[in-house]
Amino acid sequence: MIAIIGGGICGLGIGWRFAQAGEAVTVYDRGTAGMEATWAAAGMLAPQAEAEHGEEALLPLALESRAMWKDFAAELLAATGVDVDYREEGTMVVGLDRDDVEHLEHRFSYFQSLGLDVEWLSGYEARKREPHLARAVGGAVYSALDHQVDNRKVAEALRAAFLAAGGTLRENVEVTGVSTAGGRISAIDVQDGTVTTDAVVLAAGAWSRNLAGLPEISRPPVRPLKGQMVAVQMEPQMPLIETVIWGPGNGVVPSIYLAPKSNGRLIIGATVEEMGFDTGLTAGGIMELLRLAWDVLPGIYDLPLVESWAGLRPASRDDAPILGPTPTPGLFLATGHHRNGILLAPLTAKAICDCVRNGEVGSSIKPFLLDRFEKPVAVNV
Ligand code: GLY
Repeated sequence: MIAIIGGGICGLGIGWRFAQAGEAVTVYDRGTAGMEATWAAAGMLAPQAEAEHGEEALLPLALESRAMWKDFAAELLAATGVDVDYREEGTMVVGLDRDDVEHLEHRFSYFQSLGLDVEWLSGYEARKREPHLARAVGGAVYSALDHQVDNRKVAEALRAAFLAAGGTLRENVEVTGVSTAGGRISAIDVQDGTVTTDAVVLAAGAWSRNLAGLPEISRPPVRPLKGQMVAVQMEPQMPLIETVIWGPGNGVVPSIYLAPKSNGRLIIGATVEEMGFDTGLTAGGIMELLRLAWDVLPGIYDLPLVESWAGLRPASRDDAPILGPTPTPGLFLATGHHRNGILLAPLTAKAICDCVRNGEVGSSIKPFLLDRFEKPVAVNV
């Protein structure tokens, strides 16, 4: 039996692949599956527009997973009838004042140096594509290949697909620890007993580090990184925007983004805050989100504010995911996805399932093993 700890998009996705392969698999969630970071996300699939200096190793993984998304969405639809709102209008990063536009020109050169398929737009061209953008928009980078989904629909679809494929879902069941026998994972402890397992996949997001009984050498260095978000409601037939828009940020909101869904919901995010497991909303956080979003898209001013929430990204030390086997035989990791959990889910699901079943680490995930955090051994000379 395979136990997956955590019923977010990665846990459910991996579970779905196991169940499809005929494995006996149980996903454990201490609450309701799909209701933490998966629920809190914005559903952007934008490795190009979000490419950052220093994260070059992540780019091939992100591009590979993005390429899997359209089929993943179609497969979910076929399996469950749930349409996850895969949208292909693309993503635009806009600059407002002269400094922003200059900064964006540098980013554009950087994107080009990475061989990414992006296009420079003048302010006029950006507004031609999205007429409600602020007059102040002076330039933009357009990425046609960076798409999006409705992450909450994905959670619903994956849950249904996993169950339909024969997986077992235990919700409101906390895994309180893991046990080893002869150094190998042998069982998990849940509130109503101990369950013997052949393999455990730890996919508990921001909570992955805290599991009792984990051998220290296999404990993933993951911490929570808070993000506050708001949503406003557009007229679905007359949306203000159809493209995902990124704009300039400030301290607590490094960049503002606006992700329009087909039902008219416009998701605005996000703060990035080191606040432990706190998920409280703050006036300052919400004010910054709305002000920065309004700078880019003034038309949001009159829209109904329909929701505000905060989620916890699972961040690793290098902001890249931690995937694959650990020094503890039988224990596998699928955590630390930071800001990319939705994007990386299809690849994570396939790669972890293959890795557990075949005992081989695929080339895509080799750079993302836990062992990259090992301290260099001091050499005495
Ligand atoms: N991926 C969106 C966020 O982390 O805010």
